[in-house]
Amino acid sequence: LNISIIGVPSDYGQTRRGVDMGPSAIRYAGVVERLEAIGHSVQDQGDIRVSQKHSDAVVDKKLLNLEEVVEVSTALARSVHEAIQQKKFPLVFGGDHSIAIGTLAGLSEHYNNLGVIWFDAHADLNTPDTTPSGNIHGMPLAVSIGLGHERLVKIHTDAPKIKPENVIIIGARSVDPGERELISQQGIKVYTMHEIDRLGMTRVMEDAFAYLKERNVDGVHLSLDLDGLDPLYTPGVGTPVPGGITYRESHLAMEMLQESGMLTSAEFVEVNPILDEKNTTANVAVALMGSLFGETLV
Ligand code: ARG
Ligand code: MN
Ligand code: MN
Ligand code: MN
Repeated sequence: LNISIIGVPSDYGQTRRGVDMGPSAIRYAGVVERLEAIGHSVQDQGDIRVSQKHSDAVVDKKLLNLEEVVEVSTALARSVHEAIQQKKFPLVFGGDHSIAIGTLAGLSEHYNNLGVIWFDAHADLNTPDTTPSGNIHGMPLAVSIGLGHERLVKIHTDAPKIKPENVIIIGARSVDPGERELISQQGIKVYTMHEIDRLGMTRVMEDAFAYLKERNVDGVHLSLDLDGLDPLYTPGVGTPVPGGITYRESHLAMEMLQESGMLTSAEFVEVNPILDEKNTTANVAVALMGSLFGETLV
């Protein structure tokens, strides 16, 4: 592959500082070398420009830092769009999960029927009406299906970026009441920890691919929130939830995604080196990327 790395040093989607250092931590964990060793050609585009001038003024407590998130998402959408235009595989590093708004906006220009695998402890399906926190990193999936503040929904293009029935959430174990309602109302497919325990990750991934094929998707985007794993393995995240996906299950999921041959873009988000232990979380992110991009042992 021709991989184009785009760093997004933004922490505006939530209120804990440090997640803006995620792209540095992931680079420091050796991502470029790791992907090149597999045989890929990797271009690191560097970071999107993100203002570090935090005004702590609360304009709207249901949409914290709206202005900044709109700005970052708009720039990211353009970068992702350009990568695809140049026939490159976009690999985006967050930053908090609000950056997915920009990634999906940029992708939407190139796919009419994109499938999305949302690997996460959370559903990220809140709107300003349902958010318990005001944090936009709890909203990117809702925004991408066209629900939420107009400024966010209309980034890059006016139309919704993805179809709710093309979304598969894997690893959910913390879902707010409003999100739960949206899931059933919008027909979003969710594999909670219960299904992962019950069916095993192999069956979950097989079912996910069959589901996306049935829907005739023209690409698959992986949005991987490091808090999808159990915090035992990825402690450096802002909103850890116990009872998560294991290290081995996550690797298996990545390996199966690679085998499926369906993946067309990916993003790794919520790595916060300040909350981490000796860069463990970034190291896990890079190890997972190894599996995702075809590393083999023998
Ligand atoms: N559901 C909670 C909220 O909306 C937590 C969201 C966490 N999202 C994340 N990308 N880590 O505030
Ligand atoms: Mn910052
Ligand atoms: Mn999460
Ligand atoms: Mn998330």
